[in-house]
Amino acid sequence: MSKSSLKDGLKKMARLVSKREKRSKKFPSSEDHKIAQKHAEEAVESNLNHKDKITGLWKEFKIYRWSPNDPTNNPYLQSFFVDLSICGPMVVDALQEIKAEDDSSLTYRRSCREGICGSCAMNIDGTNTVACLKPIDTDTTKATTITPLPHMYVIKDLVVDLTNFYQQYKSIEPWLKTKRPTPEDGREYRQSPAERARLDGLYECILCACCSASCPSYWWNPEEFLGPAPLLHAYRWICDSRDDYTDERLQALTENQKRLYRCRTIRNCTATCPKSLNPANAINKMKTRHLLSVPVEESEDIPQPSPILQA
Ligand code: SF4
Ligand code: SF4
Ligand code: FES
Repeated sequence: MSKSSLKDGLKKMARLVSKREKRSKKFPSSEDHKIAQKHAEEAVESNLNHKDKITGLWKEFKIYRWSPNDPTNNPYLQSFFVDLSICGPMVVDALQEIKAEDDSSLTYRRSCREGICGSCAMNIDGTNTVACLKPIDTDTTKATTITPLPHMYVIKDLVVDLTNFYQQYKSIEPWLKTKRPTPEDGREYRQSPAERARLDGLYECILCACCSASCPSYWWNPEEFLGPAPLLHAYRWICDSRDDYTDERLQALTENQKRLYRCRTIRNCTATCPKSLNPANAINKMKTRHLLSVPVEESEDIPQPSPILQA
């Protein structure tokens, strides 16, 4: 037997073993928690049944490729085929499978696989989203097309340059700023439950940039207009009862009209956010507060229009 066929055989064996391990129904971490253990076992069971039904189903993924190592080569879509019976349920699982088995040069960002870090943002079948929260479309008669976030400079394949995005986020000074002395007991600045509740729907943003990359106003004015994500964060600090720089923050956002008012309330941002947040509402509330000098508590009650477009 040649060295290479022996290596291939061992690789296949390792894959089979690792697949069998994945099917284990034992969850030592939840041993003391009978209900959690039961739920986990049921989930494995249903996953195995589902997989048995789709054995041998191959799905085509068309993925945007471009490398700075070969800058004269135009970008193109490369087809890869993934066996859904051995792949996890999310698009990021298919990317992992392709990178591990077909082409290790395929480049994309990912970290948490739980919709927390925001790094796997990309455009999947025409919608900006995070690949780890997007289930694979199991209709194998059509391909799934994956491209980088639109209107961003591509560094390689699905990785885009977020320098401008992060600089704009930094520009809103995303940290607590107070004029009061620290509390006498040396502990935290306190909030009432109602004051804390005002931050719901704002603090959950994972800075994935899906919203900014879907915003036509941001496409045309990426330098001057801050875009929905940094503006959502600006509002998060503006309506924080512990922050004493509300007026200064609003002034900084509005002294250049394009920073905030380039938003035309198209609401693509809200329609595409994978965390179901509503940046357009936050922007509207800041505009209302700025134009009418309405306090945060009142601007919260002003009704907002619903989303109309999808990027
Ligand atoms: S608002 Fe939503 S889409 Fe925009 S960066 Fe935050 S999590 Fe991502
Ligand atoms: S509402 Fe429209 S214009 Fe305003 S930030 Fe969202 S997508 Fe952009
Ligand atoms: S890998 Fe962290 S959000 Fe997708």
